[in-house]
Amino acid sequence: MSSFWLPPRRRSCQLRSSARASVMESDMTSVSGIDATLPGIARVYDYWLGGKDNFEVDREEAERLAKINPKLPDIACSNRRWIIRVVRYAVRSGVRQILDVGCGLPTSSVQFPNVHETAQEEAVDTRVVYVDNDPMVQTHGRALLATNECTSLQVGDLRDLNAFLESMRSWGLDLSQPVLLLLAAVLHFFPDRGEPHPKRIVGEIMGRLPPGSFLAISHGEDTGDLREVAKNYTAASTQLRNQQQVLELFSGLELVGPGVVQLHKWHPDEDRTSLNYSVPVLGGLARKPSCHA
Ligand SMILES: C[S@@+](CC[C@H](N)C(=O)[O-])C[C@H]1O[C@@H](n2cnc3c(N)ncnc32)[C@H](O)[C@@H]1O
Repeated sequence: MSSFWLPPRRRSCQLRSSARASVMESDMTSVSGIDATLPGIARVYDYWLGGKDNFEVDREEAERLAKINPKLPDIACSNRRWIIRVVRYAVRSGVRQILDVGCGLPTSSVQFPNVHETAQEEAVDTRVVYVDNDPMVQTHGRALLATNECTSLQVGDLRDLNAFLESMRSWGLDLSQPVLLLLAAVLHFFPDRGEPHPKRIVGEIMGRLPPGSFLAISHGEDTGDLREVAKNYTAASTQLRNQQQVLELFSGLELVGPGVVQLHKWHPDEDRTSLNYSVPVLGGLARKPSCHA
């Protein structure tokens, strides 16, 4: 275990000894639900981040798309760095629970710490619930993410929103206390013509969280930089949105400055976690006020 896993302050969450058991790639295809013949959203993204939890079909998709837009790996990195900044902001604002939906495969490294590592470095008792619908994330996540008693990984699919909302109650979150709902790079997989619409997803989940909770969204921007990529992406149908459309997802909430902006403009901080070129992904963080309708 690298020293990165041990926050500087006393850990109130006990480490689980078997948590970092490795999972062989060759075992993956035999795990029920994992289809190694089709590219998967989480695995393609993992490849752009320099991860190893992907198959040949994912690497081919990732490289084909990177030929259309060579910035894609940097865009993925920029998204991960933005996540670090919003998580720090929310925890420094007093939030001690995070619901990371569409969490993706573990990224643990000094450059790309996982959400629970970032959060628990700020406050060791921060509870993190990761949720994803990808069986590969479940397999790797159980082995690599569930490293302490404040962190868990749950199966959840936003497409079945009612079941998702029902399950949420059993995930060990105290829904009377503020939660950061993190929806990073996931809502653009919900087109306007489909069900549920991202507005409904956000509205229903935030509706179950108390005032003082935060909502963080990153979302592919509808620009020339990404349109060709979205058209050629075969792992899922994708709908890019413009700033106004992403802004509308925060309806009824108080946006933290500077609002919804390209990721590199959102709190570019002194430790240079943001990249210094234009990133065609929009991000924002907002707080649920006490008078939320
Ligand atoms: C591009 S990755 C982003 C991972 C991580 N949130 C990040 O930004 O670094 C999108 C993730 O959303 C997950 N996802 C896609 N559709 C989903 C759904 N309907 N319900 C839950 N997770 C979903 C994918 O499996 C994938 O892990």
